[in-house]
Amino acid sequence: MASLLIFLPALLLALLCLRLLVNWRTLSKAPGPILAGCTDLWRAYYQYNGKLRKKLLDLHSKHGPIVRYGVRSISINDPEVINIVYGSRGGFITADSYKVIIGIQNGKEVPSLVSTADEVRHGALRRSVANAFTPTAVLDYEKWIDASIEELLDLVSKKSTFDISSIILWYNMDAAGRFSFGEPVGCLKAEGDVGGSIQLIRDRFNHWGWWGSLPQLERLIYRNPIALRQKIAPSSMAAAAASRLKLRASRSSNDLAHPDLLQKFLDASKDSPQVLDTSGIIGMLMSTISGAGDTSATTMTAAIFYLLKHPHSLKKLEEELSQADLPEIPTVSQISKLPYLNAVIRETMRVFPTPTAPMERLVPQGGVTIAGMFFPMGTSVGCMPSAVHQRVDVFGEDVNTFRPERWLISDREQLRCMEATHMGFSRGRRVCLGQNIAVLQMKKSLSALLMKFKLSLADPNASLKADFSSAVAWLGPLYVISQVKQQ
Ligand code: HEM
Repeated sequence: MASLLIFLPALLLALLCLRLLVNWRTLSKAPGPILAGCTDLWRAYYQYNGKLRKKLLDLHSKHGPIVRYGVRSISINDPEVINIVYGSRGGFITADSYKVIIGIQNGKEVPSLVSTADEVRHGALRRSVANAFTPTAVLDYEKWIDASIEELLDLVSKKSTFDISSIILWYNMDAAGRFSFGEPVGCLKAEGDVGGSIQLIRDRFNHWGWWGSLPQLERLIYRNPIALRQKIAPSSMAAAAASRLKLRASRSSNDLAHPDLLQKFLDASKDSPQVLDTSGIIGMLMSTISGAGDTSATTMTAAIFYLLKHPHSLKKLEEELSQADLPEIPTVSQISKLPYLNAVIRETMRVFPTPTAPMERLVPQGGVTIAGMFFPMGTSVGCMPSAVHQRVDVFGEDVNTFRPERWLISDREQLRCMEATHMGFSRGRRVCLGQNIAVLQMKKSLSALLMKFKLSLADPNASLKADFSSAVAWLGPLYVISQVKQQ
């Protein structure tokens, strides 16, 4: 009996060691921490603690373009690879890490546009709603955005020292509510989260960040038959989207002051009823609600932070805006061609992209050779934007410096190369569908704020505090002092 008590644990330990060794051997030629190759608990631990992004940046500086960070997970920061992995011809599909954000509605899984792994369905869904996101279509949402900018300016004019990070988030939530469902969430008015909407989005992205490394375990815990019935998985987002849809069914589209995204989805569903059925519309709403809040807010606040830290850049932008002689809330056509404003947004997204980990794709049948290394089918490969944006050979020796001027050079070849390496909105088949709306919204509100107020950091030594544990970086408070400018 005593010998059994010793033998059994020893056997289990030996089996565990063997398993870890087998795991490690799968991609042992790829450089990276040994433990990361043995178990995915390594990456889960770093992501949960918000340290994976920094760790991968360090590992890329040490090992070069290929870094192993999981049993079958490879981070690549080689720009040549972007088109292969994310382009439409490669046959790479989203990795299992995306499955943890599939919503649950009435005990059934409802994949959103982002979380659907079925490339055929994804392509059909995307095509069916593409008309709602073209540069021309997004002009329909301009009036919705203007209404939120008006409220934003009004609230800031009542403040002297305040946390701009929160105010910008409330503004983005209200603007997203307006252009998605025709009404603001009400965050600016309440000066806080309303109905837990911000928390709902964060819960979904947190769940993605925390569980994306362990999708099988997530499935076991959150998607077993009992859990599905008890709705403990990220079901609330699907429920919120479904309730918006139900609400709209009781209203006429004539009640809307301007067209919104939901109306466009409903119109599109008449043309493609099979693709854009009720769960298709719910899936689209889930992707747009969560895509539109924190991502734009983080980017806008980061832009303000970098401008305040770089007075020379702020001055240049203020001069450009002043020379353009704009109204209090400029129109898209008035600001779309302002080169410095454009460069500020691009550079902010280069220095501070919102995704916190590689956007993972699975190597298709036959495997692939990347940067001279062969990866078999099923390996998860992906680029983390912040790692790709650190390439000195593309962006120059000063990659870590915020310098919008790098986007204003006359060397077309260099510019083309930088554009092709910019992954702030991802790339290829699954590139951000809302990027035209996001850019329009950021350009308009940033210009309106900087024209009306003189902003400065309350603490000149302040840094940008961010939580990188979620799938999208959240910003902490950023206190600024504001004064209304003399006209
Ligand atoms: C600065 C703001 C934004 C940033 C940085 C951003 C970034 C991204 C990124 C990186 C992805 C790819 C995610 C992945 O594959 O893992 C994405 C996808 C997406 N974004 Fe955005 N986004 C922004 C604003 C918006 C807005 C305003 C909307 C909606 C109005 C939106 C809707 C979407 C949708 C629907 C997808 C899924 C596309 C697909 O899978 O085909 N985003 N976004």
